[in-house]
Amino acid sequence: MTSAVTCNTPQITEAMARIIDLDRYPIHELASPKTQALIAQCRKQLDETGCSVVPDFIRPEAVARMRAEAYRLRERTYWSQHSHNPYMTKDDPSLPLDHPKRFFERRTSGFINSDILEADSDLRALYDWDAMTRFVGECVGVWPIYQWADPLARCPYAIMEDGHYFPWHFDGNEFTVSVSVEQPEDGGEFEYVPNMRTLDDERIDDVRSVLQGDRSRVNTLIWLPGALQLFKGRYSLHRVTEVRGKGAWITALPTYVLDPESVNRPERAKQFYGYAMPIHYEREGKRPDRLID
Ligand SMILES: [Fe+2]
Repeated sequence: MTSAVTCNTPQITEAMARIIDLDRYPIHELASPKTQALIAQCRKQLDETGCSVVPDFIRPEAVARMRAEAYRLRERTYWSQHSHNPYMTKDDPSLPLDHPKRFFERRTSGFINSDILEADSDLRALYDWDAMTRFVGECVGVWPIYQWADPLARCPYAIMEDGHYFPWHFDGNEFTVSVSVEQPEDGGEFEYVPNMRTLDDERIDDVRSVLQGDRSRVNTLIWLPGALQLFKGRYSLHRVTEVRGKGAWITALPTYVLDPESVNRPERAKQFYGYAMPIHYEREGKRPDRLID
């Protein structure tokens, strides 16, 4: 399902320059001093806090086009009514009641799935540009990374409106790339606890402490429309606080993966995107690590 742009012609660069501010951030020229400085800054921020923000990465006109696309597709949003724990797994009554796997909160956010993006979608063009993939890989210090085979989740818009809340969770992927498209009048703050778990240690006691209200390690962030955010979401517990008032919290999620064959589990696809497709069932069980999810 990946449809990567495999060459970087002047025409493609020109088209992408209408989406990304390539004057300020010439990400297609990796050797450029500007880009090297940007990559170094992103790596430093990721090392220190697990989170890096590049302001005004997307041009205002492109942000406006993405916002307009999201509003045109808004009626086809899949709104979650699910409650889930930080691992997106089912309840396990064999565990004590205060175990994080038994901590369920209701998620009221929605997704505009990537399979319904419009033909001339700026978001899809951004996602399919190999130079963008390469730049993200340099920033997160992981290569190779790939555009994702998951047809629903590869580059959706996430959307939250008045009263909506996105509970504490870990992501299914090593790191997350987000582009802010719209911020609401109030709320919609991104909260995260850097480096909460590792591949070898779930640190259940630390997770429990945050879920029970410990704010000592919680970082808070609002990133303005057009900003690019890089975030280590597989290891950092995070949530979006309740949105209040007018406007919406709309965020584009171009999602890059280490394993191009692995897609979401059917359970997660249904929870987040409304349904699972044959590819989700076919590839179940071929996952690269042993974390809970
Ligand atoms: Fe997340």
